[in-house]
Amino acid sequence: MNKKTIVIVGASRGIGAELVKLFAQNEKHRVIALSRNTSEMQRQFEGIDNVDFYSFDLSKNVFQQATSVFSDLQKIDVLINNAGYLVNKPFPELTEEDLQKSYQVNVIGVIETVQAALPTLNAKGAHIVNISSMGGYQGTVKFAGLTAYSTSKAAVCSFTELFAEEYKESTIKMNCLCLGAAQTEMLEEAFPGYQAPVSAEKMAEFIADFALKGHQWMNGKIIPVSLSTP
Ligand SMILES: NC(=O)c1ccc[n+]([C@@H]2O[C@H](COP(=O)([O-])OP(=O)(O)OC[C@H]3O[C@@H](n4cnc5c(N)ncnc54)[C@H](OP(=O)(O)O)[C@@H]3O)[C@@H](O)[C@H]2O)c1
Repeated sequence: MNKKTIVIVGASRGIGAELVKLFAQNEKHRVIALSRNTSEMQRQFEGIDNVDFYSFDLSKNVFQQATSVFSDLQKIDVLINNAGYLVNKPFPELTEEDLQKSYQVNVIGVIETVQAALPTLNAKGAHIVNISSMGGYQGTVKFAGLTAYSTSKAAVCSFTELFAEEYKESTIKMNCLCLGAAQTEMLEEAFPGYQAPVSAEKMAEFIADFALKGHQWMNGKIIPVSLSTP
């Protein structure tokens, strides 16, 4: 059986956890789930035969951690950089630590994960999907308090275009989805009481489908996926 290996970074809760469960429904998929919270991944994924989960922290030694996980895989067909860190603070109160953590987890961690994946990406065709935000998409409505988060998500969009240019002659494709509001713990923590028009599960449905097929038509594209900010 020709299995597809799908790596999901940021898999312990929210959209990432839904992605893991969705991909795992197909026995031709082998799902690699990466996050810091291994007990939560164990609770959710233990007993699902085609899911393996590993401790993974985007805030330090990302290249080494990713290389150690990826070197045990025969190939990677799909890599979804879904993890995200959101700090919601008035601009004058943002600390250097807030900015550094946002950029480390949301940008540098993503770039280093991709660097580590390069030798293992399937030479016959691989799709890297970066998860950004509508806040990082040029020309959209912006929200006060999200300078660290949204500027870092804009950098992920830019990285997508730059990588796609550098790898345009290769079989590796990279695209970026800029999500609108989806009902997750991150959203609830940042904007308590706000009701998103899309559930985490529903958002994961679109991302999973796009990750499996989108690279047949697109490369280096920044795509808004939003009901909340039309
Ligand atoms: N929900 C929304 O409305 C919305 C809107 C626009 C964009 N997005 C983007 O969509 C993605 C998923 O969001 P979500 O709402 O599902 O978020 P979430 O509920 O907070 O889940 C985020 C995931 O990222 C992981 N993560 C966070 N920091 C990490 C680190 N240092 N190292 C490794 N993993 C880390 C978390 O796992 P651990 O804590 O176990 O590490 C968790 O599994 C994010 O990139 C987010 O920015 C979400």
